[in-house]
Amino acid sequence: MERREFLKGVAATGAGVALSGGAGMLSMAQAAPGKEDFGEIKGLKVHCISETSWFDNATLGKDIKACGGINTYQYNVDWNVENLGGYAALVEVEALDGKITKYLLDSGWNTEWMDYVFAKDGIDKMLKSKEINTLIISHDHIDHYYGLESTLKHQPDIKIYFPGTSMKESFALLKGADYSKKPGQPKNKYPHKGELIVTKTNQLYKLQDGAALVFFDAPATLQVRGENVLYFKVKDKGFVTVTGCCHPGIVTLFNYSRRNFKDGDKNYGCYGGLHISPFENWDPKMDDLIQGVKALNMKKIACNHCTGWIWAEKAAQMGLPIVKGTNKNLSYKKTGTLSKAKTSNVYLGNGDDIVF
Ligand SMILES: [Fe+2]
Ligand SMILES: [Fe+2]
Repeated sequence: MERREFLKGVAATGAGVALSGGAGMLSMAQAAPGKEDFGEIKGLKVHCISETSWFDNATLGKDIKACGGINTYQYNVDWNVENLGGYAALVEVEALDGKITKYLLDSGWNTEWMDYVFAKDGIDKMLKSKEINTLIISHDHIDHYYGLESTLKHQPDIKIYFPGTSMKESFALLKGADYSKKPGQPKNKYPHKGELIVTKTNQLYKLQDGAALVFFDAPATLQVRGENVLYFKVKDKGFVTVTGCCHPGIVTLFNYSRRNFKDGDKNYGCYGGLHISPFENWDPKMDDLIQGVKALNMKKIACNHCTGWIWAEKAAQMGLPIVKGTNKNLSYKKTGTLSKAKTSNVYLGNGDDIVF
């Protein structure tokens, strides 16, 4: 397979990010000069399996503080197990010919919760039947990755895209490691037997026409690094990003597509955690971010998880196209303390869908 490297030095996360060819990537003939063209899809549906990574912010905050603060090593923390949920989304891509392909983004945290939400949405059956045959791990943070077993128990040979910057314990978990002597730490009884694509900085991985994954080497809390981000180009609409936490920052992600992709200035929407105010603290810089996101001229913003309800509410008030949730999450066996307290729903919550 031909390898190439171009668009070097494009500022994306502070570090230069370039795209290069290789297995599953683009050939020179497919790309317009200087800009990547990975094709188009007809449509995209994202289903929120779970965005309640934990149910109570204060409890999680206490766990982190007790073990050394936000920059402590995530595998060293004792977590309050009752508080743990997880993050996962079902991404359904409709190709130009109408064929539907389903991808699982992330596998949550607490396996009891993940088993519950997977069963509720039939994800368990889709995994067993291989209707879903690809798992994309956005990053190895507790709430996106520790629940790996809930996916692998149904399909141990699933294809996995996995960030190359993941912690050594996270790589070992794929193979069947057990850290569960400490509360809230993971185990995996079903060693991964399928294809493992370890994603690297400066590379774009084409999933299918119109769908690509780009790895950003961005720093995050609890000593986690790097995030796989999904980009879709929806015909006649524009670019959509789908993220786990969006640690590189939403403006960075759209600047990246503008600079690197053909027609990359046509923004359409986003889904996922936007990592703006995960602990609901207001910072004046967040007003600037509302203006920054406004300038992207997106048509649909479906956010949840670590976005910060406080930011999403203000962004909606300021005219950003925040897609409202349906409150289905309130019927789940557990509900986040924040969403229980709110009447307006600015989060696309558990059980909700967004169509792009
Ligand atoms: Fe997260
Ligand atoms: Fe994260």
